[in-house]
Amino acid sequence: MISVPIGKPSFFTVHLVFVLLTIVFCFPGSVSASAEEAAALFKWKSSFLNPDNPLLTSWILQQNSSPCSWYGVSCINGSVNRLNLSDSNINSTLYNFPFSSLPNLEYVDMAINEFSGRIPPQIGSIPKELGNLMLLDDLELSNNLLIGSVPVALGNLSNLKYLYLLHNQLSGPIPQELGNLTKLVAMIMAENQFSGQLPEGLCQGGVLKNLTVNENMLTGPIPRSLKNCSSLLRTIFYRNQLTGNLSEMFGVYPNLDYMDLSNNNFYGELSADWGRCQNLSTLKIAENNISGPIPPELGNLPQLGVLDLSSNRLTGEIPKEFGDLTSMLNLFLQENQLSGSIPQELGSLTQLLNLDLSANSLNGSIPRTLGNCQKLFQLNLSSNLLSQNIPIELGKFIQLSTLDLSHNFLVGEIPSVFGGLQSLEILNLSHNNLSGSIPDDLDALPGSTHVDLSFNDLEGPIPPGNVFKNLTVEQVKGNKGLCGNITGLQPCQSPPVEGTHKRHKVRRLVLIILLPLLGSTLLLCAFVGSFLLYERRKRTANAEDMDVDGDGFFSISVFDGRAMYRQILKATEVFNSTFCVGEGGYGSVYKVKLPSAEVVAVKRLHHSSEMTDRNGFLNEIRALTNIRHRNIVKLYGFCSNSKHSILVYEYLERGSLANILSKEAAARNLDWQKRVNIIKGVAFALSYMHHDCSPPIVHRDISSNNILLDSDYEAHVSDFGTAKLLKQDSSNWSALAGTYGYIAPEFAYTMEVTEKCDVYSFGILALEVIKGSYPGDYISQIIYPTPGNLQLKDLLDQRLSHPSREIEEVLISIIKIAKGCLVANPKSRPTMYIVSDMLSMGAPSPQHLAQTEDMIKIVEEDLEGQEH
Ligand SMILES: *[C@@H]1O[C@H](CO)[C@@H](O)[C@H](O)[C@H]1NC(C)=O
Ligand SMILES: *[C@@H]1O[C@H](CO)[C@@H](O)[C@H](O)[C@H]1NC(C)=O
Ligand SMILES: *[C@@H]1O[C@H](CO)[C@@H](O)[C@H](O)[C@H]1NC(C)=O
Ligand SMILES: *[C@@H]1O[C@H](CO)[C@@H](O)[C@H](O)[C@H]1NC(C)=O
Ligand SMILES: *[C@@H]1O[C@H](CO)[C@@H](O)[C@H](O)[C@H]1NC(C)=O
Ligand SMILES: *[C@@H]1O[C@H](CO)[C@@H](O)[C@H](O)[C@H]1NC(C)=O
Ligand SMILES: *[C@@H]1O[C@H](CO)[C@@H](O)[C@H](O)[C@H]1NC(C)=O
Ligand SMILES: *[C@@H]1O[C@H](CO)[C@@H](O)[C@H](O)[C@H]1NC(C)=O
Ligand SMILES: *[C@@H]1O[C@H](CO)[C@@H](O)[C@H](O)[C@H]1NC(C)=O
Ligand SMILES: *[C@@H]1O[C@H](CO)[C@@H](O)[C@H](O)[C@H]1NC(C)=O
Ligand SMILES: *[C@@H]1O[C@H](CO)[C@@H](O)[C@H](O)[C@H]1NC(C)=O
Repeated sequence: MISVPIGKPSFFTVHLVFVLLTIVFCFPGSVSASAEEAAALFKWKSSFLNPDNPLLTSWILQQNSSPCSWYGVSCINGSVNRLNLSDSNINSTLYNFPFSSLPNLEYVDMAINEFSGRIPPQIGSIPKELGNLMLLDDLELSNNLLIGSVPVALGNLSNLKYLYLLHNQLSGPIPQELGNLTKLVAMIMAENQFSGQLPEGLCQGGVLKNLTVNENMLTGPIPRSLKNCSSLLRTIFYRNQLTGNLSEMFGVYPNLDYMDLSNNNFYGELSADWGRCQNLSTLKIAENNISGPIPPELGNLPQLGVLDLSSNRLTGEIPKEFGDLTSMLNLFLQENQLSGSIPQELGSLTQLLNLDLSANSLNGSIPRTLGNCQKLFQLNLSSNLLSQNIPIELGKFIQLSTLDLSHNFLVGEIPSVFGGLQSLEILNLSHNNLSGSIPDDLDALPGSTHVDLSFNDLEGPIPPGNVFKNLTVEQVKGNKGLCGNITGLQPCQSPPVEGTHKRHKVRRLVLIILLPLLGSTLLLCAFVGSFLLYERRKRTANAEDMDVDGDGFFSISVFDGRAMYRQILKATEVFNSTFCVGEGGYGSVYKVKLPSAEVVAVKRLHHSSEMTDRNGFLNEIRALTNIRHRNIVKLYGFCSNSKHSILVYEYLERGSLANILSKEAAARNLDWQKRVNIIKGVAFALSYMHHDCSPPIVHRDISSNNILLDSDYEAHVSDFGTAKLLKQDSSNWSALAGTYGYIAPEFAYTMEVTEKCDVYSFGILALEVIKGSYPGDYISQIIYPTPGNLQLKDLLDQRLSHPSREIEEVLISIIKIAKGCLVANPKSRPTMYIVSDMLSMGAPSPQHLAQTEDMIKIVEEDLEGQEH
């Protein structure tokens, strides 16, 4: 449509007036018709409570003006046939609407306005000569404030195909006369206060597709005419008081896509005929009174994505045939009387997002196969009769937000792999028979996870992690012997230092072994002796090397710290710049050959690199010197006195990845296979630090500058943990956490560094290794792809020849994983544990690639499907 700017006459308006004048001159007859329509519409506008509506400024009356160019108006042969005033902020009633002056109206859309009062009863009963809207095929009045009943005369609009009265305050019955509208394709009456029965003749014409009447007060059975309505696509009846025997009222609908009968009073059994509605994607019959078994034929529905039969009185077993429902996203069978065991076959539902089988009488064990449902978001198996151990496979879910296994008879220990459920918000294991101690690994759960472990047989101390910081006694009561610093819980015997209770366990074990041998004193002494020896040797390896001398010298080192320090000063001629091989964020790096012929890298910290917290620093250094991982640069020690502070590392021949990628020849030499190995190595290192160290160590500054390569091009991550420990003299906020361009976006507002920040940086790094340079603008293109814009070759290092097909697949999967690492919501990023798992499997399987974007898309589609 054309909207003409008013006020400043432009060439366009002048031109238009000229055109109109020409029409006036040539066709005086038609102008008078349209002038009459203009007058009628203008008069109607004048009756609005807001007649100066800015959207309708084009609605002005001049001599012989035509309405055809007005906002929202379309004409045929100079007469108004379409009126689209949806969402136009009109505050008025329909009483004054000039139906009789607009005889050619076919389409009226006045949805989403402030129309109040009743629908004028004369619609459809106006004498023919005055124009009785007989041509009207589309009447849209949804989302207004209309009250009263629907005029019976609407049944006279025999051309009507679309009737939308959604979301008003209409009441009374839906007129039976509407059953006479044989051309009706869509009748959308939801969210009103309609009562009485549905029109008996609905779908007489055999073209009805969409029938939406949810959230009214309709009663009685479904019209018999609908049993035969094979044209149905979408039928939404939920939240009414409809009744009747389900097995008698419905037929077979080959086109049906969406059927929602929830929250009504239907009874009887589910018919096997539902299994013949081959296009069904959603079937919801929750909160009715249906009984009997679930027909196995439902397993025949290849498109079925949502099945909600919750809150009924269904009995029997969950059909094994459900394993064939491979499109299934949401399966809700909770609050029934289902028995038997959970079929193994449900493990085939790899798209599943929500599985709720709670409040039934299911027995047996939890099938391990459920671990295949990698996209699960909510898993609720509570209030059943499930027994045996919790399968560790349940620890594999990337996106799981709710895990509720409460009120069952589960035994054994809480799987420590649950610590890997990085998206978890609710973990409810209460009211089972779980025993043993709470695994330390649960410390890795997000701090915001609500954990309920009450009423089990757990014992030992509550681990120190964030997730347990705000615990109340309600969440842990009713156990055998849990202890900790929580009001209402007994304190632990000795303070809960990290790892203490693991050691407790070992000692208890030792005593149990020794008791029968107590007679043999010799043996006992021998044991104690070797134990002490072991303890001493262990201490020499770290703590005892730390000596604090008068000159302020101290060191933590795997070697003799003071000797090493002297050797380094000598070898570098007191840090002469000729020995300097690089500058890092926190200091200069020197290559030093020790008298033992060993070569080390020495990082001399800038004077400005103060320790933020000396004790924390020393603890962290101590922890770091104990780490041995092939992909982490070995830290030999730290020495400091008033003049110099140095970190001593393993030396790596090929220097930093950034340096290699920046050099043409070196980069060419770094072929695809080497690059894939580098990416894997970094992932392994991060996974180790995040998931196998207690407490976890966050790198905070993953970038190509911090990845060093050895002679075999194996990646070694350097500078673990130092970003946190050292203050920089820079006011640049990035100094707080890592290198600009690699910092996770949430850091800007949370100022908090988590493992997920490393995951983000890893995503950038992986792309950089493949592209050969910082991916820059491509990052946003990868996160928000526009179809056809981004090609694989744009993401590959052009200095290398195109990869073989096999490598190409691996690269694509790495790019996909990287994309998952870059999603904005840190919770939706995979953990490094999952990333390295995916990478180590070679080409990741499709379900591993089930990353967030896909899931969000599926969830959105599902939500769209539920809009009425
Ligand atoms: C428009 O007018 C022409 C000539 O009078 C007529 O043939 C045609 O059917 C009309 N079109 C419509 C849609 O009424
Ligand atoms: C009606 O108008 C609205 C808002 O101007 C527009 O979004 C919509 O596409 C129009 N519908 C038709 C069928 O022209
Ligand atoms: C519509 O008009 C009525 C009566 O003047 C007024 O109470 C109401 O607030 C108006 N609504 C809007 C959205 O302007
Ligand atoms: C249908 O229209 C006819 C005239 O066209 C009218 O006599 C009759 O009353 C209308 N029916 C209803 C239910 O208004
Ligand atoms: C439906 O139309 C038939 C004629 O087709 C008429 O006899 C009957 O009265 C109409 N029913 C209603 C309820 O208007
Ligand atoms: C079902 O519909 C067909 C045509 O669509 C019709 O011939 C048949 O009589 C209808 N059966 C019932 C029971 O309404
Ligand atoms: C009718 O149903 C189909 C299939 O479910 C859906 O795609 C379409 O948007 C619906 N149309 C209306 C007007 O509700
Ligand atoms: C099922 O839907 C597809 C498209 O979604 C359509 O092509 C097909 O005709 C439908 N099948 C039946 C039996 O209606
Ligand atoms: C529902 O209808 C079926 C088939 O007519 C019948 O066998 C069954 O007994 C009915 N159920 C109830 C509860 O009336
Ligand atoms: C603990 O509770 C306090 C206050 O309710 C809240 O600010 C803090 O974020 C919570 N800590 C965790 C780890 O949930
Ligand atoms: C126990 O917890 C309180 C509050 O959380 C804390 O102030 C106190 O230091 C803790 N005591 C021990 C021994 O950890």
